[in-house]
Amino acid sequence: MNEVLQTIKKRRSVRKYQAKQIPAEECESLVEAGLYCPTGGNRQPVHITVVRDGDLIARLTLELKAAVARTPGNPYKKYVGAESYTVNFGAPTFMIVSANLARALTAEADCACALENIFLAARSLGIGSCWINQLGSVTADAPFQEFLRKELGFPAGNVVYGCAALGYPEGDFPEAPPRKGSSNWVE
Ligand SMILES: Cc1cc2nc3c(=O)[nH]c(=O)nc-3n(C[C@H](O)[C@H](O)[C@H](O)COP(=O)(O)O)c2cc1C
Repeated sequence: MNEVLQTIKKRRSVRKYQAKQIPAEECESLVEAGLYCPTGGNRQPVHITVVRDGDLIARLTLELKAAVARTPGNPYKKYVGAESYTVNFGAPTFMIVSANLARALTAEADCACALENIFLAARSLGIGSCWINQLGSVTADAPFQEFLRKELGFPAGNVVYGCAALGYPEGDFPEAPPRKGSSNWVE
């Protein structure tokens, strides 16, 4: 089996990380892999905010917790409200993938393609990853959006469609269980 197919089958979500940071050049390769994703109409609206400062990631957890707590009906209230919750599962690199919906009707799908590219590129380099979805649930929370813009240089008008926690796994990569999805062929 070729390496890409092997990497696809070996990728798993990792939820326990070593503190050891991934090298900056490899982080750049992950960003590049993300930005090489296909996008609707080739509009390329994807923006990737890379956060590698542990204190800032800790701030992000705190700001997110506060935003989720004050958002009525937020589906992540119990999950994010738990004392043990951190936005990154301890991963030293965190990427926020966003786009401006006004620039691309396919923004959400474009960002999902970017994230999968990042996950696969990470796995090929022995780096673990996990999609983190909670930031997209506080898009309407003004103080949180202000925090993203002011502290993380997040582009005004963009919407977060998903995030990636990235780092070396604590322990082995988990084995992929058999898939439940299906296919049907007509030849
Ligand atoms: C759209 C999307 C949102 C997800 N959100 C989260 C999340 O917020 N937290 C998390 O731990 N995993 C999240 N995941 C990871 C899934 O739980 C994971 O992919 C699934 O359980 C299959 O496991 P695998 O990635 O190891 O194959 C998300 C995955 C996708 C595609």
